[in-house]
Amino acid sequence: MTVRPIRYLGDPVLRRPAKKVRRVDDSIRRLIADMTESMVEAQGVGIAAPQIGVGLRVVVIGMPDEEPYPLINPEVIKRSGERRLYEGCLSVPGYRGELTRSTKVTVKALDVNGREIRIKAEDDLLAQALEHECDHLNGTLYVDRLDSKDDLEKLEPADPSMAELRREEDAVSAEGSD
Ligand code: NI
Repeated sequence: MTVRPIRYLGDPVLRRPAKKVRRVDDSIRRLIADMTESMVEAQGVGIAAPQIGVGLRVVVIGMPDEEPYPLINPEVIKRSGERRLYEGCLSVPGYRGELTRSTKVTVKALDVNGREIRIKAEDDLLAQALEHECDHLNGTLYVDRLDSKDDLEKLEPADPSMAELRREEDAVSAEGSD
């Protein structure tokens, strides 16, 4: 496994729609291993392949206290409700924004063995991460979803909520425990 550098806002790879994975083989499993390592190193709760420069539809979800897992060719097949959240992104370090996300999210994807799985989440960090990471595969960043520039806030360099997606309350509770 290799930690690969995170690509930042302004890098064209983040804006290109990623390509569908045709076959879940060892090269995809190596990519997933590198993504997982890079996400853990950067203290994110999710990462999408374009964030390490690879234009394929693969994301890794890494909820706190859970084993990270990949979603291959993930697709949001159902979403409902609205809620306001704070959000950050590994590719936009030093900022967080307040935006509207869905309350309930269902994603269809392939697992690491190429089998179809469905993930359902409601009103939690996972629901937010699923929408955020699927957005990355379409070249969309959370900053595109802000109602206005006033909803973007610059953080102090040491603020742990710089990490991908970590919400304000999670960031506060993570202080001292990590
Ligand atoms: Ni992100």
